Amino acid sequence: MGWINARRRRPVAGYAALLLGLVVVGMLYGALTRTGAQAAPTTAQENVANGQAIFEATCSSCHGLDAQGTDQAPSLIGAGAAAVYFQMSTGRMPAKEVGAENGRGPVKFTDQEIRDVAAYVQSIGGGPEIPTPAQVSTVGADTALGSQLFSANCAQCHGFAGDGGALTYGKYAPALNESTPTQIYTAMLTGPEAMPVFADGAIPPQAKRDIIAYITETRTEANPGGLSLGRIGPVTEGLVIFLGGIGGLVLVSMWLTAKRREPWDVAQEENRQAARSGSGSGSGSSGTQGTEH
Ligand code: HEC
Ligand code: HEC
Repeated sequence: MGWINARRRRPVAGYAALLLGLVVVGMLYGALTRTGAQAAPTTAQENVANGQAIFEATCSSCHGLDAQGTDQAPSLIGAGAAAVYFQMSTGRMPAKEVGAENGRGPVKFTDQEIRDVAAYVQSIGGGPEIPTPAQVSTVGADTALGSQLFSANCAQCHGFAGDGGALTYGKYAPALNESTPTQIYTAMLTGPEAMPVFADGAIPPQAKRDIIAYITETRTEANPGGLSLGRIGPVTEGLVIFLGGIGGLVLVSMWLTAKRREPWDVAQEENRQAARSGSGSGSGSSGTQGTEH
């Protein structure tokens, strides 16, 4: 124990212990957020009956009892599960009012309920299906190619950085910084509102993954959604900011305070105090001498 105490008194040991602590905390943080992200959407457990019940209660007032469409809203026969997933998971549907472009909003149903309604709509007319997690995985995707495809197909509406832009007739293409990979994929498959459909003939599945990789890896704003917490990017960034920023500040303050405790400083301080008290008593004694006269 003696040799540890001897080394602990050295300032270097203090820095090393601090760095070690920061790394441990950072790694714990990374491990915790990564396990939290494992809750990826499970494969759709189709429950058409439950989906139909939700549809009749919530959607049929606009889309018709059998999703055949009304003068308020289009038919959903053939729209497919992908369209329902996109519209409901971004909070666009159920729409509050008819007419205005429906942007993102609070999501009113659980993932399972959304997949149930999607299964119901799929059951009555087919259409594009919700992609599997593997289909939207960006592992091994070509971000550089995705960037080229995005510039050629998407940037004229969504902007080169995917931050959105105005379109004609008061419509707008939204920013893409909140879209999940599955939402990006289903948007391409179904072409909501003024957006064209990008079928697999125009943009093959592999190229869709490249585009998703480009969008999700280059956007600057952190995604507050629960799923993306596990992306390696934000964790590493957080760790760098944590170590470099806070760690740096702590080290600087340690250095500043450590300076005062150097032995020669203490010695100087003592000398100065001794000098001051020495001269103080000197003047004091001369003062007393003065009053004696
Ligand atoms: C207040 C009326 C209203 C309600 C309620 C409503 N919708 Fe819609 N829906 C619309 C309108 C209008 C459109 C077309 C304009 C648009 O896409 O924003 C639409 C479009 C859609 C589309 C896109 C169709 C396509 O071909 O891509 C889907 C899918 C959809 N709705 C699903 C639903 C579901 C599911 C619900 C219930 C959870 C629902 N809607 C509730 C009015 C409504
Ligand atoms: C002609 C213009 C246009 C082009 C080209 C276009 N989009 Fe869109 N996009 C839109 C509009 C308009 C919306 C909003 C639709 C709505 O709100 O119903 C949209 C919505 C989206 C969304 C949903 C955003 C959200 O709220 O989460 C995604 C994702 C998306 N587009 C991706 C793409 C990708 C990827 C491409 C290229 C392959 C592309 N778009 C090309 C106009 C366009």
